[in-house]
Amino acid sequence: VGTNISLISGSIRANTSKISRLNEIVSEASDARDLNHRIRSSGIVFSNTDISVAHAALGALDSGSTVKISAITSLLSRSQKSLYNTPASVEGDIGALDTLSMDEGALRGFLEEIGASDGIVLGTPVYFGDRSSVANKLLQQTNIRRLLKDKIFGVVSVGAKRNGGQETAAIYSLYEALMQGAIVVGSGPPICQYGGTVWAGDKGSALEDGLGLSTCYATGRQVSYFSGILDEGAKSPDEGGKPRISVIVTMNTRDNYVGKYLEDYFGPYMDKADLDFINLIDYEIFRCVGCSRCPCRIVKDDPVSSGMCVLKDGADHMRQLHARIKGSDCIIIVGANNTKDDLVYRYQVFMERTRYIRRNNFELSNTPVIGMLLNEPEGINNPMHNIKVLTSYIRHNTMMLKPINIILIKGKVVYSDRFDDHLALLGIIKKGRSSSGAVSISYEAEGYSDKTYDNMRSERS
Ligand SMILES: Cc1cc2nc3c(=O)[nH]c(=O)nc-3n(C[C@H](O)[C@H](O)[C@H](O)COP(=O)(O)O)c2cc1C
Repeated sequence: VGTNISLISGSIRANTSKISRLNEIVSEASDARDLNHRIRSSGIVFSNTDISVAHAALGALDSGSTVKISAITSLLSRSQKSLYNTPASVEGDIGALDTLSMDEGALRGFLEEIGASDGIVLGTPVYFGDRSSVANKLLQQTNIRRLLKDKIFGVVSVGAKRNGGQETAAIYSLYEALMQGAIVVGSGPPICQYGGTVWAGDKGSALEDGLGLSTCYATGRQVSYFSGILDEGAKSPDEGGKPRISVIVTMNTRDNYVGKYLEDYFGPYMDKADLDFINLIDYEIFRCVGCSRCPCRIVKDDPVSSGMCVLKDGADHMRQLHARIKGSDCIIIVGANNTKDDLVYRYQVFMERTRYIRRNNFELSNTPVIGMLLNEPEGINNPMHNIKVLTSYIRHNTMMLKPINIILIKGKVVYSDRFDDHLALLGIIKKGRSSSGAVSISYEAEGYSDKTYDNMRSERS
């Protein structure tokens, strides 16, 4: 039995009354082209967001999930058109008017469906580089009712401009869902970015953006795949065993300012997990030199170098670091935001050097990643750490878990997020990953002319 995925259109222009027909069309479609063909020949005009979530639904359906598309506009009061002085020429354009009141009965049913689903794809038009107020209703409601906790969450977004904010809209929603306890995923292989990003303005014109719609399809597939891992793990959550966790300290002072906070924080968990603390400032890490062919996948007579970075200088420690984190059940990326002048950064250089790991058919696939920030409110040297961790590590085909925030005032911890929920979830994911079969994954060098490695595949579990 597959998982249940809810796909939600957050457009005010959603074709509310025809969403059930869209569900039928998705279930009848054999592939993405056929889906577009069926939408066109239905003669029904759907909003661009509707079309984008339909493609995400097809991706999830093809991965074995049960899918249901709904429109948030079905929850809105729709009887108030007279409030607007609308010329007859634009009357037909207007789908639903949100008077900020909601139909309580419809809302209850909608939230029950969300509660019962294993994964969610939020579709939104881009409004000023963010999601729409209609799409926002979903995250408001899930927050009030804590509905996203431990659910897989992805986003598809549509904007009229080519770089109109599809990515910012996705990132804001992904980050907020993360803070609500969702497990956040991107579009997965072969490109693996933030989710579905579609370029379309006129209503219905999303059908012309095949490339964009393929990212929506991939996002639906990704949400379905990860929800399957969780579902598998939840069947016998206690069998996961102790997770092996790499705690990577990406910036620190020479006298190990970060270390004492980590000792205090993780102290109570030392017998529940195998924690490996990796202090990057103890290592030499050279910069990425930006090879267009990466990694040096085939090195003649040197199997050890296959799939590795071309940099072979013995003084560079990336190989040792790679060996240490390989096979971890979780990676925690620790950063600090403070007013210190003697903080040594390894964050950026380490991140850029992990490129060959991504390009080696996503070696970190399926690994849960957690951002962790020691945050002094007056600090300005690294205020966005946990957002940066989300947006970079999601590209490693990982699942992102709720960040850990530790607030310090004058060096004293005044608040810290608990780690217990993370640990429970890591047990489930570890078990789910070991019980789900490996999948064959390929990286694609989109944006580069050298396609030598595009069709090489690796088994990842
Ligand atoms: C209030 C408003 C703000 C918008 N802001 C942006 C924007 O920042 N970037 C962009 O690319 N498109 C923007 N658009 C265009 C819509 O994102 C675009 O038309 C989209 O296809 C609408 O999706 P829909 O058909 O699902 O409603 C905006 C549209 C409106 C109405």
